[in-house]
Amino acid sequence: MDPHSYSNPGEVRVRHISLDVDVRFEARVLEGSATLSFDAPQDDTLVLDTRGLVIHAAEGASADGAWHPANFELGAEDGILGAPLWVHLAAGDRRVRIAYTTSPGATALQWLAPAQTAGKQHPFLYTQSQAIHARSWMPAQDTPAVRVTYDARIRTPLPLVAVMSAEMRHGAGEHHFHMPQPVPTYLIALAVGDLAFAPLGARSGVYAERLMLARAAHEFADTEAMIAAVERLYGPYRWGRYDLLVLPPSFPFGGMENPRLTFVTPTMIAGDRSLVSLVAHELAHSWSGNLVTNATWEDFWLNEGFTVYLERRILEEVYGADRARMEACLGRRELERELGRLPPPDTVLHLDLKGRDPDDGCTLVPYEKGFLLLKRLEAIHGRTRFDAFLRSYFEAFVFQSVTTNEFVSYLSKHLASDGICWEEWLTAPGLPADAPGAPSEGLSQVEEQAAAWLDGRLPLAEIPASSWTVHEWLHFLRSMPQPLPPGRMQELDGAFFLTRAGNAEVLHQWLLMAVRSGYQPALAALEPFLISVGRRKFVRPLYEELVRTPEGRDLAAAIYARAREGYHPIAQATVDAILKVPATGC
Ligand code: BES
Ligand code: ZN
Repeated sequence: MDPHSYSNPGEVRVRHISLDVDVRFEARVLEGSATLSFDAPQDDTLVLDTRGLVIHAAEGASADGAWHPANFELGAEDGILGAPLWVHLAAGDRRVRIAYTTSPGATALQWLAPAQTAGKQHPFLYTQSQAIHARSWMPAQDTPAVRVTYDARIRTPLPLVAVMSAEMRHGAGEHHFHMPQPVPTYLIALAVGDLAFAPLGARSGVYAERLMLARAAHEFADTEAMIAAVERLYGPYRWGRYDLLVLPPSFPFGGMENPRLTFVTPTMIAGDRSLVSLVAHELAHSWSGNLVTNATWEDFWLNEGFTVYLERRILEEVYGADRARMEACLGRRELERELGRLPPPDTVLHLDLKGRDPDDGCTLVPYEKGFLLLKRLEAIHGRTRFDAFLRSYFEAFVFQSVTTNEFVSYLSKHLASDGICWEEWLTAPGLPADAPGAPSEGLSQVEEQAAAWLDGRLPLAEIPASSWTVHEWLHFLRSMPQPLPPGRMQELDGAFFLTRAGNAEVLHQWLLMAVRSGYQPALAALEPFLISVGRRKFVRPLYEELVRTPEGRDLAAAIYARAREGYHPIAQATVDAILKVPATGC
């Protein structure tokens, strides 16, 4: 059923995972055991997903019985799926214990040297399990269709602290975790570093390296208001605490919705809370994604499209409708650009990922096209009815996984089946004719100002840029023709110092434009940016833009030679693919 897992949950279903692991920074491995508990099996073989794991031993036991050795075989490694691990069960077995070591190249793990952290004194480790990387740090039924509770005992060198997406109890060099709510394995997460904690509210707080802590706490001050907003709209927060962990800049994503402990990039800490839609997004996953989960990665839009819709409802509640409209408008424009670049099969909502890496499905399509589908449903049924429907959907499928077809039939039964051409929305490429627009008055004005400056009707000094937030800036820059002649780049830079922009989103957009127009003063800022930041959303477009010209390709190769070792394996895989010299055949 899930094309990205070897596991056999139909015959044996794992219910609980118990990890007992040493974090060995010198060898860059995790070493220990995973004990998996399961229901009475219908079959005598438990099939697990692994990737690059060295399996030392397997044992079986009945519910309270003694351990006995179990036979096991590890299959061949597939480039995408990893290797199946077959564990042969004895009659009555309800648990297996597997002793293992991860490989130093484990795709979920990034091991950072002290120099790559803010404090520069201690190493750092973190995991990124979504989509199918959990199998590179524990043997598991690594499919979002299976949920487990878990506990863990993690031993770390002093004075490092381990944190996980679970209830935590810290001791000196040994940290204990317990996750009472069942979660799919892609939501199991661990980070180890010289971390400190600051509370935000009664049930929320932030972990970060000490140097980052005060800035982070300031940036996240609206977190409690956001939690309260989603609860009003879509029902209670079911996970106890909501904490955030600020990672080093190599973190390959903007955010990751690990339950109870969202992981975030430090590049969203802008000083002015302008990028906190990311917190709204990861928090929203506590309903769409973590409570109700896509059953396979082909149904990924159920996680992300719903989450973008919830994210913008939170923004509207906390910051007002204009802010939400601006973000939707920017999203719609970026989606149109993406639809123009992607091969048509990659622009459908319900993806076919058989034989492909699920990370390939991570484009803007599930996010923004999914959002537009929900906006369309909201327009058809009205907000009141649609909100009531969403509440009932989260309630009906709480702690379960859902396929696209199950969602559509639930909606047809509980709301209405008419008004939407499902075939077109789910399986046709591009945007359906009834996709709602995303107008924003504020951004239309910015667009007019950009046009007026371009045809010489408006001097830069008369543009009200001092009152702009990141949204206006991004829209202004994206309204420029590409490439913009270097002279005009120079004018913008002279007036607004964009090469020194402190906001990572604005700087990234500016650097993209600099690559396109060959604007040298900003190109000097490219290397430090690409070496310090490993966030895939920033890194990928810059390398893609660079390789379009021979000089750009040389520059990209030179920068990547220095930057690669600082990237997470997931980002390395992305950039490796971009820089691979295509076979010419002669
Ligand atoms: N769950 C995703 C990140 C993800 C997706 C990791 C697919 C691995 C595979 C997370 O919620 C997310 O969507 N992050 C976005 C930020 C968001 C504000 C759009 C990101 O990282 O850019
Ligand atoms: Zn998301």
